[in-house]
Order: sequence, then C-alpha cells, then structure tokens
Amino acid sequence: MKVLSVTSELFPLVKTGGLADVTGSLPKALALSGVETTTLLPAYPSVMEKVGQTSILMSFDDILGERASLIHARAHGLDLLLLDCPALFHRAGGPYVDADGRDHSDNWKRFAALSRAAAEIAHGALPGWQPDLVHTHDWQSALTSVYMREMGCDLPVVLTIHNLAFQGQFERDKLASIGLPEHVFSTDCLEYFGDISYLKGGLQTADIITTVSPTYAREILTSRFGMGLDGVLNERVMALRGIVNGIDLDVWNPMTDPYLPRNYDATSLKRKRENRSVLLDRFGLDQDNGPVFSAVTRLTWQKGMDMFAEAADEVLYNGGKIIVFGQGDGEIEHALRTTAARYPGRMAVHVGYDEPTAHLIHGGSDAIVQPSRFEPCGLTQLYALRYGCVPVVSRTGGLSETIIDANDAAMSARVATGFQFHPVNTEGLRLALRRALDTYADTRNWARLQNQGMKTRFSWERSAEKYAAIYFNLIKRRTEDGLRHSIGA
Ligand code: ADP
Ligand code: GLC
Repeated sequence: MKVLSVTSELFPLVKTGGLADVTGSLPKALALSGVETTTLLPAYPSVMEKVGQTSILMSFDDILGERASLIHARAHGLDLLLLDCPALFHRAGGPYVDADGRDHSDNWKRFAALSRAAAEIAHGALPGWQPDLVHTHDWQSALTSVYMREMGCDLPVVLTIHNLAFQGQFERDKLASIGLPEHVFSTDCLEYFGDISYLKGGLQTADIITTVSPTYAREILTSRFGMGLDGVLNERVMALRGIVNGIDLDVWNPMTDPYLPRNYDATSLKRKRENRSVLLDRFGLDQDNGPVFSAVTRLTWQKGMDMFAEAADEVLYNGGKIIVFGQGDGEIEHALRTTAARYPGRMAVHVGYDEPTAHLIHGGSDAIVQPSRFEPCGLTQLYALRYGCVPVVSRTGGLSETIIDANDAAMSARVATGFQFHPVNTEGLRLALRRALDTYADTRNWARLQNQGMKTRFSWERSAEKYAAIYFNLIKRRTEDGLRHSIGA
C-alpha cells in the first residue's frame, strides 16, 4: 500500500515540535506493516541543505499563481517529495515565522499551496506514481482533502490532529486566492464564525480523523478542550479515533545517544551522574546533590510554564535545582527569569532550540516537569521515561495515559513511573513537586520509579499497526464501494 503523508515539518530535516518527530518516525514503523510512505513537504532551504542528491520529477505551472517543481529525494530512510516553490518557501526564518519570530504574512497561501500540490499528486498528476491513500497532519495540510473532493478525487484521506489550538483561520476573502469556489464557504465545510478554517475543512472532508491519544480524542468533544471545533467533532464522532504516539527508540536511546558525554542503560544508571555534572556546568549551576528538575518545552500557556514559574520555589527552597530550556512567550520567559534571579546557581533559564542540548538535559536530569493545561500526546515525558528521568505531569490528554502516578497502590504493584497532578493549577503542581522531592529523598523508591519508567516501551509498533489497520479498512471499503457501483448494486 502506498501512502502520501503531507506535512509542514519532518524530523530530522525541519522541526519545531512533536509533529516533526511523529511524521519522521511513523513511516519506518509503518513499513513493517506493509505500508510504503512517501512524504510531501515544502522544500525549505534548510531542508534542501540536508537531503543530498535530488531529482526533479515534474513542474507545476500554476500552484495558486506560482511556479513550482516537485523534487524527489531519499534521506534518513525516508522517501520524500519536496515542493519547491521559491516565491513561497525560499526565505529566512522557520517554517511558520520570519527571522524576527513573526508569522509569515502569507501562511494562508503557503500551506494552501502545499495542500493543493498534495491533492494534485493524489489525483494522478505525477507520472508513474499515485498513492492509495493520503494522510494529512494539522491545519497546514488539512485543505488537501477539500481540494481533492473539489477535483472529484475520492482516494481515502486520514487527517491527524496533533494540536487543535492551531486551526489555520483566515479571512473569507482569501477563498478566491486559494482557488476554491464560493460553495465551500458553508458550515459543513470551511466556514468558521464568518472566517475560513483550514482545519475545519479537513475535519469535514477527511474519511477518518485521528488524534494522538485516546484521552485527547475524548477531551476535544467537550467545549473546554474543543477550541470551538467540538461541535464539528461531535458530528463526526463516528470517524474519530485516538492513537497514542510512539517514539523513535533509535534516536532516543541513552545507550547510543551521541549527545551524551556518558551512555547508560537501566543497569548502569550511576553513569547518569556524570552527565548531570556536565549538564550543571553547562548551565552554570552549583554542583551539589540536590535533584535536577528540568523542562524542555515551548514556553507557552499550553505547556503551563507560567505555573512552573510560580511553583518553582517548592523545588528551589527545598534543595533542588531547575533547568528550563525552550522558547516562546516573552512574559513567561520573564516570569521564569525573575524566579531564577532569586536563586543564583540553582535555577537556569536558557532561551533556545537545539536538539543536542535537549538530549543532554534528558541524559543528566533527575525529573522532567510537564505541567500542561492540555496535551494531545506529549513526547517529552516519553523521552524522560527512556532516559531514567521521572516525569512530573498534569493529568490531561496523553500525559494521563502514558505516566502512572506513584500513589501507594501503584508503588506497591511496582508499576508507577512518575507524578501526576489534578486539578491543573499552580497549587496542584506544587504538591506534585513536593511529592517528587519527598520520594527523591528515599533512594530505593526513586530508583524503583526510574527503573519502572525505563522498562515501559512507547515504541511505534502497536500504534503503527493501528494506523495501518485504518488505512487497510478505508482502502477495502473504497474497493467494495467501487465494485458495488460497477455492478449497479
Ligand atoms: P509539542 O509538539 O506540543 O511542542 P511534544 O512533547 O509533542 O510537544 O514535542 C516537543 C518536541 O520538541 C520534543 O521532541 C522536544 O524534545 C522538542 N523540544 C521542545 N523544546 C525544545 C528546545 N528548546 N530545544 C530542542 N528541542 C525541543
Ligand atoms: C502537538 C502536541 C503534542 C503532540 C505532538 C505530536 O504538538 O502539542 O502533545 O505530542 O503534536 O503529535
């Protein structure tokens, strides 16, 4: 089976968050279930620098008024189609923002163009290759199924929601410029409170909608988590599935990780101390025995990092240390820095985005803190488990089903892997940090938590099988419908 996956980011070529980790690692796991994935993404300059040998497959004379070409490459075990459209993608900055951190003003056109190209490929534009199914991810590729349906292309489409907070909402007057007819401006397609919403269009036209954990799949049906789309999602509930993300066990393996000064596994956890020492030096913190609580994350309201700024005293006052590494909201950064200023040598806040540092933090920390207000899946806590860091997380979305709280029952059954808190507020977080500190003081119990965490296996295997089953069912259904149609049943 041939699947065209359409995405705006893909690890290790271009990454701003977990979406890239998923689109970069799922294809390898799917291959074991007989699924060949080809991934379409923009030919950003940073991607072109990393892919090595390429060949031009075809040209588009007019993708939303721009010239573009489709480039083929194979890199890092991935089969790639790169949409090379200089007017839209050759520029400085990241995939979504310019060099000053502001959204590119034509994102509405950039990702409509990506989706348009995907739809044309699905409809047979590429000589000699056509997918059996299309898998889109988040709002950036959600228009693909809208274009496909307008072209009369009935290939099955699976849309995965990685984060409902980002919806691709633009003014209605963009409709003509993205080459879509007026009739799609309706409540059962793109219309969204007088604007157009790319994600809503995808939700209305994809055959199956998945999101990245079963808990988040239930949460988004409520007005609290539905971000204004809970009505649409409730209408489409029969098509909605939750499949928890896996992680790439080769990329995130403390035994082979090239970014760690000292490699280790569950039988050699003592070596983690050496990484810890390098980590503390690197962040200019005191070398003492207190536990290191770290966060590697976007500094946003979603991630609850404002609550961490308020609750941090609990750790710092009681002998622990804190490292925060991330970027995002200036106010949250300021709040964190203000707390850090009161504890010189004990708390470091570094603004940046850098893969090796993220690995080193996991390799050297004792606990990873993730107090998200909502979390579709979350990958950081899974990396934490694998690296023998104990996660301290809020009970929401994927966090609630990947971490087992260290309550008495779970401790005595030897299944606990971390600390969860609920309700999700500063006080809840403070209590969870307190519980973690108390447990850290009990060396045996802490080691037990680390070991139990390191034994859990959030590989892609089982989740990839679930995606493959969805793909196969959709294709089977289409073939049967086609047969029924041809015999006039
Ligand atoms: P989200 O996608 O919502 O940001 P996830 O937990 O799913 O959250 O994925 C975050 C990914 O981004 C992880 O791979 C994490 O290691 C990475 N990441 C977050 N912040 C940084 C940073 N400052 N530097 C490097 N990697 C980061
Ligand atoms: C989103 C979510 C995160 C999830 C990631 C990958 O960015 O915020 O929870 O793990 O996508 O699916």
